[in-house]
Amino acid sequence: MRILLLGASGFVGGGLWSRLAERHEVVGTYATRPLPGMVRLDLRDEPRLAALAADGFDLVVHAAGLVPLEAAEADPALAHRLNVRPVEVLLDAVRGSATRLLLLSSDNVFDGTRPRYTEDDARAPVNVYGRTKTAAEDLLLAEGGHLVVRIPLVFGRGPWANTFLARLSGPTTVARTDLVCAPVYLPSLGPALARLWDRTGVVHYGGADVVTRFELMSRVQRALDLPTRVTPAQEADTPSACRRPPRLVLRSTRHGLLGPGLDEALAHLATG
Ligand SMILES: NC(=O)c1ccc[n+]([C@@H]2O[C@H](COP(=O)([O-])OP(=O)(O)OC[C@H]3O[C@@H](n4cnc5c(N)ncnc54)[C@H](OP(=O)(O)O)[C@@H]3O)[C@@H](O)[C@H]2O)c1
Repeated sequence: MRILLLGASGFVGGGLWSRLAERHEVVGTYATRPLPGMVRLDLRDEPRLAALAADGFDLVVHAAGLVPLEAAEADPALAHRLNVRPVEVLLDAVRGSATRLLLLSSDNVFDGTRPRYTEDDARAPVNVYGRTKTAAEDLLLAEGGHLVVRIPLVFGRGPWANTFLARLSGPTTVARTDLVCAPVYLPSLGPALARLWDRTGVVHYGGADVVTRFELMSRVQRALDLPTRVTPAQEADTPSACRRPPRLVLRSTRHGLLGPGLDEALAHLATG
């Protein structure tokens, strides 16, 4: 397959790049973090985005955009510009061709009030980031023939961008005991997408284990023996302008794939 990977310089994009480039011809893009062999692209350069997407790829994997929740909350117009508008440009560029789009979306399209979420559950985002992902999904789903893959918090080591481990880089790591997730291990994502990408509509890909953020961070710290002290906190201890859904557990009614459990993932992470 010939694949365009938007956001290959990012944390998730880097993990996808390392797995997908083993078996496919992958063209990756970066915006500010140049990498050898990748092409520079600003999502706001619409003619360039459209020209790249129309270059005869079998699949465009869209893993680029404004991801930090606080940054999206602080600048909703920029979040829309980077997370929603490019999807319209991509759809216009590939319409009528054989190129399919795979949009990476997020569990933040849900409000976190239910024990678990499947593809059929109603979305109700509580923050700007979640609203932009919901709007991007709507565009793709209205067109038909493309795929939205919702993923939860991703953990692990990226080949170049390491936004997850960076959270554990200070002397103290504050982690919430009142946020529950089913995180996915980064190396499992590429193979999972490759098994799902022939589908259309929406699919969920969640991790097997359900843990609090505090438990996840504590177990990663111990597995890697990182020089940080993970301290428990609750919402009141960490005031933020950005609301976070309290419990996000993605499950699927469309397939049986789940990411590895924490024991298996952390044993792999510890091998470097
Ligand atoms: N990380 C998670 O836990 C998680 C969870 C659920 C869903 N997701 C989804 O996964 C995708 C990737 O997330 P991530 O964690 O890998 O984020 P990330 O590390 O911040 O990477 C973002 C990517 O987007 C690129 N980008 C940013 N602004 C751009 C612009 N103006 N033009 C072109 N490219 C731009 C970045 O390029 P440069 O780095 O070169 O600037 C980078 O390649 C997103 O769609 C996100 O919603 C992530």
